[in-house]
Amino acid sequence: MDKVTLTIDEKQVVTDKESNILTASLENGIYIPHLCYYSGLEPPGICRLCVVDVSGDIVFSCRSKVKEGMVVKTRSPVVDKIREVNFEIIMANNHMSCKGCAATGFCEVQKIMAFCKTDKKRVRRLRPPEKQFPIDESNPYFDYDANKCVLCEVCVGTCNKIQKALNFVGRGWKTKVEFHGDTSICEKCGDCVARCPVGALVPKGKAQIQKSA
Ligand code: FES
Repeated sequence: MDKVTLTIDEKQVVTDKESNILTASLENGIYIPHLCYYSGLEPPGICRLCVVDVSGDIVFSCRSKVKEGMVVKTRSPVVDKIREVNFEIIMANNHMSCKGCAATGFCEVQKIMAFCKTDKKRVRRLRPPEKQFPIDESNPYFDYDANKCVLCEVCVGTCNKIQKALNFVGRGWKTKVEFHGDTSICEKCGDCVARCPVGALVPKGKAQIQKSA
């Protein structure tokens, strides 16, 4: 496969010419926060956390192909501010309590909160009225806790490649993931659960509603 050389955070990187900036960075040990990108799925560009600076332009790294000679900065005052605000909007619609969550320790939200040094008090002020969805236990193999869902679309995109059993329903802060009415069409592959970056989709019996922080 053809290769290109680019500079990411002053580090010279050689990567496949078909790579995007996000994967080129991650492969080279440079972390860029991201929630909705999953290798092999079309990047939906939903979370807006993977912003980077390419020669003064702010772009989504998951949707931007690498180019020969490209100069990328994954951090700058502008990039950090955009990412911080985008993440706060996601978190304002999230329960923000990790106590007892099945995903704690490997949850992408925890990782990004630490990276962005998210101010929980500020996020609390952005919150819409308290939301508390009941846990969806309709699938015999896993449970879905919409209170923890960041609507990244990874589970929906994954399922679309197999059975199209999952989709979004609702609008605004009431949006959540749901079955198309019939759980019997689920192939039980478990990929949606394995790929969930937070603790929203978990094996049966592991979900529990968290009180908002
Ligand atoms: Fe790029 Fe979500 S990972 S927009």
